[in-house]
Amino acid sequence: MPKADTYSPSEVLGAINFDNISELEFYSYCFNESLRMQPPVYISSTVSMMETVDCGGLIIRKGDAISIDMYRLGHNPKEWIEPEKFFPERFNPEHEYFKTPDGKRRNPYSFSPFLGGQRICVGKTFVELVSKLTLPSLYANFDFALPEGIDPATYKLPANNLVCSREPEVHVTINKRSERVFFQS
Ligand code: HEM
Repeated sequence: MPKADTYSPSEVLGAINFDNISELEFYSYCFNESLRMQPPVYISSTVSMMETVDCGGLIIRKGDAISIDMYRLGHNPKEWIEPEKFFPERFNPEHEYFKTPDGKRRNPYSFSPFLGGQRICVGKTFVELVSKLTLPSLYANFDFALPEGIDPATYKLPANNLVCSREPEVHVTINKRSERVFFQS
């Protein structure tokens, strides 16, 4: 999590309520960037095509079963600048990283951690709101770090499989902060 941020202390631990929760902009960028890099649901369940379609030259026939690979959508180098880098500002419409490497508008389906359409996750809004209530507060009070000897530049999270059905092996040390820290404006 970068140190620079747009939160003010009152935004983080002050009166977060239903009216102002949508103002936590930089937090949303971090949330989205985490879901892009490590989508908890890597790949969708299968869907069956209702009609034959030509998908960029690939013919998918009526009745064929396909899955959407959310991990690869979020790591596609044609859509994301430096896709392996954790860079929350890529979700800020005013930042150059908001565009594709060619400077074009990103395909909105490049980021689909909750899927979409009729199959969209019913918990999407719930998890977005609950995480805004809990994660900034945890970050303000605890320091999260990789254990000594692990280089963040090369560390890769072990892949979990669909919907975390296997216990993920995550290396992290958590220390209570002596002083609360806040994202700075
Ligand atoms: C970051 C957290 C979450 C992510 C990334 C996520 C992602 C997804 C995805 C991708 C699907 C579609 C799966 C498919 O059809 O192949 C889905 C479906 C679903 N999710 Fe979530 N989910 C999250 C949290 C939650 C929570 C907190 C709840 C419940 C409170 C929830 C409830 C559901 C349900 C019930 C479905 C099935 C919807 C349907 O088929 O109509 N999810 N989720």
